[in-house]
Amino acid sequence: MTSVIPAQRTVRVKLATSSVEHDAARRLRHTVFCQEQGLFNGDDRDEIDLTALTLVAIGDTADEVIGTVRIHQQGEQVWWGSRLAVARSARRQAAVGSGLIKLAVGTAHALGCHTFLAHVQQQNVAMFTQLHWLALSESVLHGRPHSLMRADLRCYPPIDDAAVGLLCTKVAP
Ligand SMILES: CC(C)(COP(=O)(O)OP(=O)(O)OC[C@H]1O[C@@H](n2cnc3c(N)ncnc32)[C@H](O)[C@@H]1OP(=O)(O)O)[C@@H](O)C(=O)NCCC(=O)NCCS
Repeated sequence: MTSVIPAQRTVRVKLATSSVEHDAARRLRHTVFCQEQGLFNGDDRDEIDLTALTLVAIGDTADEVIGTVRIHQQGEQVWWGSRLAVARSARRQAAVGSGLIKLAVGTAHALGCHTFLAHVQQQNVAMFTQLHWLALSESVLHGRPHSLMRADLRCYPPIDDAAVGLLCTKVAP
């Protein structure tokens, strides 16, 4: 079950530290990537999940996850973000997606990342550009157009305590 976020509500994004949070993140990924987007048939998990760190956005109750993303290291100082998902009812309400991206890149930065990359679905390129990411190339993944994008690390200061995480909220225009 997901809840609607009232105006100006703040949401905590943090490292998933319990099996409850991990399970809820997995369910949200299934809802978004398998059921809503149809990118995967039945299961979106892969071998990256064996080593990735999972970040979550916490909803009204401690066991309600309304957003998630995973990060993993591949290569000396290269990190990737993937499976960014926000529950439909929570989108564009409390900057949950932006908060997850901030925590993802900041956490990797604190762990020695020099290059942070993601394959971004085409419809989200404008959002990532706004968040200081640069498009490098285009490709088709899972049958959909994606842009390989790199975060500008100067805009993402290191975040040392991902287990505490960050509060995110929508800034009034
Ligand atoms: C993409 C996604 C994670 C964004 O999450 P979100 O919590 O809605 O994002 P935010 O609220 O932080 O968005 C911040 C800003 O980014 C921009 N933005 C967000 N989604 C956008 C979209 N689909 N198109 C264009 N701009 C968008 C807007 O400027 C928004 O500010 P606004 O609400 O004042 O207009 C969410 O829509 C989602 O889960 N989509 C389905 C799965 C998916 O596409 N995952 C990403 C794969 S690359």
